[in-house]
Amino acid sequence: MVNSLGASVAGAVEARRGEFGTLADGRKVESAELANAKGMSVRILALGGVIQELKAPDRNGKPADVVLGYATAQQYLDQPQYFGATVGRYANRIAVGKFSLDGKQYQLETNDGPNHLHGGKQGFDKVLWKIESVSAGSPAKAVLTYTSADGEGGYPGRLQVTATYTLNDKNELSIEYRATTDKPTIVNITNHSYFNLAGEATPTDVFGHRLTLFASKYTPVNATLIPTGERRAVARTAFDFTKPHAIGERVRDGRDEQLRIARGYDHNYIVDGEAGQLRPAARVEEPTSGRVLELLQSAPGVQFYSGNFLDATSTGKSKRVYRQGDGFCLEPQVFPDSPNRSDFPSARLNPGQTYVNTMVLRFSAAP
Ligand code: BGC
Repeated sequence: MVNSLGASVAGAVEARRGEFGTLADGRKVESAELANAKGMSVRILALGGVIQELKAPDRNGKPADVVLGYATAQQYLDQPQYFGATVGRYANRIAVGKFSLDGKQYQLETNDGPNHLHGGKQGFDKVLWKIESVSAGSPAKAVLTYTSADGEGGYPGRLQVTATYTLNDKNELSIEYRATTDKPTIVNITNHSYFNLAGEATPTDVFGHRLTLFASKYTPVNATLIPTGERRAVARTAFDFTKPHAIGERVRDGRDEQLRIARGYDHNYIVDGEAGQLRPAARVEEPTSGRVLELLQSAPGVQFYSGNFLDATSTGKSKRVYRQGDGFCLEPQVFPDSPNRSDFPSARLNPGQTYVNTMVLRFSAAP
């Protein structure tokens, strides 16, 4: 069998290093590509550890790119939407950018109204990572690293981060973030892929995708999308995806204040089961192609975002203008604003400890 990198393979998954492009300031952006013989492949950029392309087969075995993204590297800096990006040091929001550790207060940049979002203006999505290794095999693997200096973005501690992407021949892409620090700090790193399982090039939104979330509670938010502290049961609300529902079925339900605040879904779900253990968080099925994405994760929460702020200002890889609801994100993470909430799972990392966030994206097709 011949995979999409054009190489003959027997079980093993191919891997290749390449050059994706050049930034306006002349810096080169390397890439890593992994491809199996089952129609699945992924391209990862050194810029932001971005998943720039992810192909998965439909029910007839036909692969399509199922993530939103840009054709050129510079667009990721010019029009940041966090497409496919590694988000950190702290993914999601921290209220008014403030938190304290051991009695000392820290002020982070405020880049989302009054709040800090996704690590600030120069977060992990906008820096060049080092591609340490790209190796074929079963699974194939790409390892990227980034060292964030003490004080970068206002965060304490020198943080050494490793992002490992592996693709096996069962159509599972796993992503594992690890980090260590030399001073107590906070960490919350995730991947911010926007999926459209019908294919990025198809001119349809994701409202027909059927979503299951293995979460019986979520964390409602205030007007600036900071959790109020409540853990609310999803039962009998528009937030209940414990049984499959189309994403669009209730997204316009203006009777639900939470949907009005966020202009749709943009909420942290508390994944059932034990945090720290890899367990099912979500299943998404796209009826026309049959493509199914299952997400397994170790993190306590998952942000489900229905692409509410895509506003036709970005044009994607296939020259398609992205509009509201054209992609959805599932971002495994600790809860938003947890540094300010002692009752939420902690985002604290001490020297000598290793932060680990593991997620598995498993693709298949329903008949
Ligand atoms: C957030 C959204 C935000 C988006 C930016 C998501 O993780 O929850 O509120 O607009 O990232 O791309």
